[in-house]
Amino acid sequence: MSAGLPQLDEHGRLRHLITLDGLGKDLLEALLRRAERFAAAAPRGTRRAGALDGWTVVQLFGEPSTRTRASFELAAVRLGAHVLTLDRALSSHAKGETLADTIGNLEAMSVDVFVIRDATPGVHEQVARAVGTRASVVSGGEAHLSHPTQGLLDALTIRQAKGGFEGLAIAIVGDIGRSRVARSAHHALATLGVQEIRLVGPREMLPAPGEFPGATRFESMDDGIAGADVIMMLRIQHERSGGGREPDLAAYRRDFGLTVERLSRAGSRAVVMHPGPLNRGVEIDSEVADGARSLIRRQVANGVAVRMAVLAEIAEARRKRAA
Ligand code: CP
Repeated sequence: MSAGLPQLDEHGRLRHLITLDGLGKDLLEALLRRAERFAAAAPRGTRRAGALDGWTVVQLFGEPSTRTRASFELAAVRLGAHVLTLDRALSSHAKGETLADTIGNLEAMSVDVFVIRDATPGVHEQVARAVGTRASVVSGGEAHLSHPTQGLLDALTIRQAKGGFEGLAIAIVGDIGRSRVARSAHHALATLGVQEIRLVGPREMLPAPGEFPGATRFESMDDGIAGADVIMMLRIQHERSGGGREPDLAAYRRDFGLTVERLSRAGSRAVVMHPGPLNRGVEIDSEVADGARSLIRRQVANGVAVRMAVLAEIAEARRKRAA
């Protein structure tokens, strides 16, 4: 995101959430505390809190999604909002309508929050500029750059499992260079005080030099996960290949797949995470994904709580501005 678009209002309160990059520790901790309260309340399908009473949330998704899209919808409904979800490929975009026109038309129907997933860098900021102070933009994923609510739910899951961030060694494994999940995890975890973040993968999948400041790089899986407290597995982002050559999957599994045997060599402290979708038998084996040390379903459950927290924080900021 360019320096020119503040995500916070003049009082430092959340207006948009497009990236975690640059957000302070106090705000991230406040969001995690709020999410923790929603998670503890364990909402089960009924409307439970009125923070978004009378609000309209539009989801505009230009890439496939299961978890993010469903959990944003559940979060908004549980907070009392009306929710409309548009698949961009099935909207009038397919008939030549520009993004600006799509947003303008939706705004004419009085929208309070746009939740957007898009493969094009900069779309979220463009929409935020277009809506000005009339609505908020929340990212459900931006290209390879940012997935802020995923970063928050990953941080919440780690804090629940490990009791805090101090002294942790966290290994992020796989196609990191093309991963918005890894970037947002790094932003969140570094801000929250994790001192040892390891980037593990074949050289061609590691990010460019200078990215992920403070992280250590490993091209050997066994070295990278040895003694780790958390192993965050990533899938290969084939959709971002740009037509380039993709890795041989059998060789990738052999060198970077998380098997029971490899996990046992990592040490007894290690818990396993994965943002989904899983490619079982490639980056992770089913025995690990469904095993006792897996936090994968906990991540999904926390996704609803974190998205409720973000939406409630934005709503509270707006109420305070209006008061
Ligand atoms: N983790 C994640 O973003 O999953 P989806 O692509 O299914 O939303």
